[in-house]
Amino acid sequence: MRRKIVAGNWKMHGNLADNEALLSALLAGAGDVKAEMAVCVPFPYLASVSAKLSGGGIAWGAQNMSQHGKGAFTGEVSAAMLNDFGCKYVIVGHSERRALYGESDEVVADKFLAAQAAGLVPILCVGESLEERETGVTEQVVGRQLDAVIAKAGVASLANCVVAYEPVWAIGTGKTATPAQAQAVHAFIRGKLRALDPVVADGLVIQYGGSVKAANAAELFAQPDIDGGLIGGASLQADEFLAICRAA
Ligand code: PGA
Repeated sequence: MRRKIVAGNWKMHGNLADNEALLSALLAGAGDVKAEMAVCVPFPYLASVSAKLSGGGIAWGAQNMSQHGKGAFTGEVSAAMLNDFGCKYVIVGHSERRALYGESDEVVADKFLAAQAAGLVPILCVGESLEERETGVTEQVVGRQLDAVIAKAGVASLANCVVAYEPVWAIGTGKTATPAQAQAVHAFIRGKLRALDPVVADGLVIQYGGSVKAANAAELFAQPDIDGGLIGGASLQADEFLAICRAA
């Protein structure tokens, strides 16, 4: 059976005091969580988060990284730097990065490769906009986003990553995809990969993300191809995030 992974995406939230309180509560409550738990935090907090979580059973990571190894890239952070702080995961291709910072499929694929080359596990986000869903091209969009990575990294690379299906219209909007809508896209992703490599397809952890809350998590995670979640807003509240993790 595939393991379930629930990751928090803090986005640009938090401060030292709030993080400390949140992580203390997560560590205290993680004992009865069977799914793997992780938090993806802003870069400046990696040092304190790694110190706090080391040995505690909750993994951590970043929300973005550079596709470049090092050099004159002002403001960027490399995979090797994330390794210095013990990151396990790094989110690549979040829809906010794609939409607000112009990250193309190609750049996302380069980031994916650079993350894996450094031993990090990329959480590759894919998903369609509302307009794309309404015009019936969800599968083409998600397929294209996956193909860009497969073209550069090969299908075997997906054995060592997490894919997060996040319909853009469900992120931060309170509008969750129904379990059936989400399951349909998750099944499409797995089916597409199965045609290329059945072992990779069956082992791939595919998270759902987009307005997941304690109240809807269990139903989403009960779908056969949904293997946990990538949680934004609800990951900032310990009780809510723990309840979501327990539901996985
Ligand atoms: P949300 O965000 O849970 O706040 O909708 C999810 C995400 O963007 O990863």
